[in-house]
Amino acid sequence: MRYTLITGACGGLGSAFCDLLAARGEPLFLTGRSAERLEALADRLKGSNADMGIAFLPCDLTDERERAQFFARADEMGVTFRRLIYVAGVDTQMAFERYDERKIVMQTRVNLEGAVSLIGGFLSRTPLDGESEILVVGSMSASTPMPYFALYSATKKALEQFCVGLRSELKGRARVTCVLPGSIPTRDDIKENIKSHGFWGRASVKSPEEVARISIAAVQKNKPVKVIGFYNHLIRLTTKLVPMSVRMRFISKIWSKTTKDYYSEIDKTDPT
Ligand SMILES: NC(=O)c1ccc[n+]([C@@H]2O[C@H](COP(=O)([O-])OP(=O)(O)OC[C@H]3O[C@@H](n4cnc5c(N)ncnc54)[C@H](OP(=O)(O)O)[C@@H]3O)[C@@H](O)[C@H]2O)c1
Repeated sequence: MRYTLITGACGGLGSAFCDLLAARGEPLFLTGRSAERLEALADRLKGSNADMGIAFLPCDLTDERERAQFFARADEMGVTFRRLIYVAGVDTQMAFERYDERKIVMQTRVNLEGAVSLIGGFLSRTPLDGESEILVVGSMSASTPMPYFALYSATKKALEQFCVGLRSELKGRARVTCVLPGSIPTRDDIKENIKSHGFWGRASVKSPEEVARISIAAVQKNKPVKVIGFYNHLIRLTTKLVPMSVRMRFISKIWSKTTKDYYSEIDKTDPT
């Protein structure tokens, strides 16, 4: 049995990937920081298909020792992977001067270091037989530098470039795709943010279920980068045509009006 390893499995988009693949009867290996939430998710998924292969292990992706222990434990369990879906991500939208050290370090580690490290761990223990897949959730924010979302967009751009380069190295042995969704109404602060971004905010939206479905289809077709949704294609094209100074003024105007803070949302639900 070869598992799909899903990071950020308990999150809004991660659980949509889990539901989609569970409905297809694919064996899943879930990870996130909370063993309790992972167990609850595994129980829910098994509820609709008692025979499905499902396993989970908690891992804080910002911690290199936890990442090493995660793979050591998976090896002890005799698990073989076929696909990695890296969904975990931290989005904080505010002036960079308002960031504290925690926001800087954690966002960089979860969005980039954790992804690269898990891909390394996945590759070193997965038979690369042409059917192996690496699917990484990037963001439309990778399409342009973004004032007031500067660190997030930089990490997602780095992730996109890493995936495209890696895909060539693994040609014929593994499929590698970085997907770029626009807005996905998952957490409450994201839903509020979408409303405040007016027409383009709404046009960019796809549901978690649509994003999961389009993303899986994209990696199966071995697309290097997949922009999700017609309007997001249009936005990406426009960002290439509009001069940088005009783009920066436009983004500053819109993005400075609102904030989004992953940590305050998480602190509301997670006492640790
Ligand atoms: N929502 C959007 O509008 C949007 C748009 C474009 C791209 N994206 C990307 O889509 C992905 C999922 O976003 P979402 O909207 O589903 O957000 P979400 O519900 O907040 O999920 C984020 C996930 O990241 C995981 N995570 C955060 N810090 C972690 C850490 N230190 N160690 C391990 N896991 C950690 C969380 O896992 P636990 O809390 O269970 O530990 C959670 O499951 C992210 O990569 C995001 O950048 C989102």
